[in-house]
Amino acid sequence: MRFSHLNSEHDRAAFDCGVPELNAFLKNHATQYIKRGMCAVHVFSEGNVVIGYFTLSSLSLKPTTFPANITKRYPQKMSVPCWLLGRLAVDIRFKRQGIGVRLLMAAFSQVLELEQRAGGFCLVVDAKNESIKPFYLKFGFKPVLDDELRLYLPVSSIKEMNAQASMVYSQ
Ligand SMILES: CC(C)(COP(=O)(O)OP(=O)(O)OC[C@H]1O[C@@H](n2cnc3c(N)ncnc32)[C@H](O)[C@@H]1OP(=O)(O)O)[C@@H](O)C(=O)NCCC(=O)NCCS
Repeated sequence: MRFSHLNSEHDRAAFDCGVPELNAFLKNHATQYIKRGMCAVHVFSEGNVVIGYFTLSSLSLKPTTFPANITKRYPQKMSVPCWLLGRLAVDIRFKRQGIGVRLLMAAFSQVLELEQRAGGFCLVVDAKNESIKPFYLKFGFKPVLDDELRLYLPVSSIKEMNAQASMVYSQ
């Protein structure tokens, strides 16, 4: 199994995560989104079989989106630079095998690299519904102030998790 950017070798037609709009995005829209610079599509695959994918793009939010104690040092007239995990999906044949978490970890790694090169306060995700929220809350995501389904995780928290994981692996 390997991670790569979406390419023409991947069999998109066979992908089924159980959510029609996320299947349709991969099959019908992903290439155009990439060409137009709207997001990057990262794929976890075995041969040409797509096991799961996620998208990343940039996003700017008003400082008032976040609790004041977090963004009080941001100039209030400027927007806060963020990264958006726009879509995350695992094929139903591979669900509940830890792939969703591996995709999230891969997204975290990408965000750490992006932050080094281009800044960014946090990773944002729009939960599809209330029932999926616990999947993200377990990693420390919190709702923004003006939208219960929009969750954010500061890059500083991702760095802490990364440092803790490195310590465990080096022991
Ligand atoms: C959500 C999704 C990505 C999870 O992928 P997965 O590979 O099945 O998840 P994992 O096996 O890595 O599960 C990790 C943990 O999340 C929990 N989890 C998985 N799916 C969940 C869901 N739909 N709701 C709440 N918790 C969920 C698991 O119980 C597991 O917890 P545990 O380790 O304590 O048992 C996958 O179910 C999916 O593609 N769903 C359809 C698309 C979707 O809803 N995407 C989210 C858009 S916001």
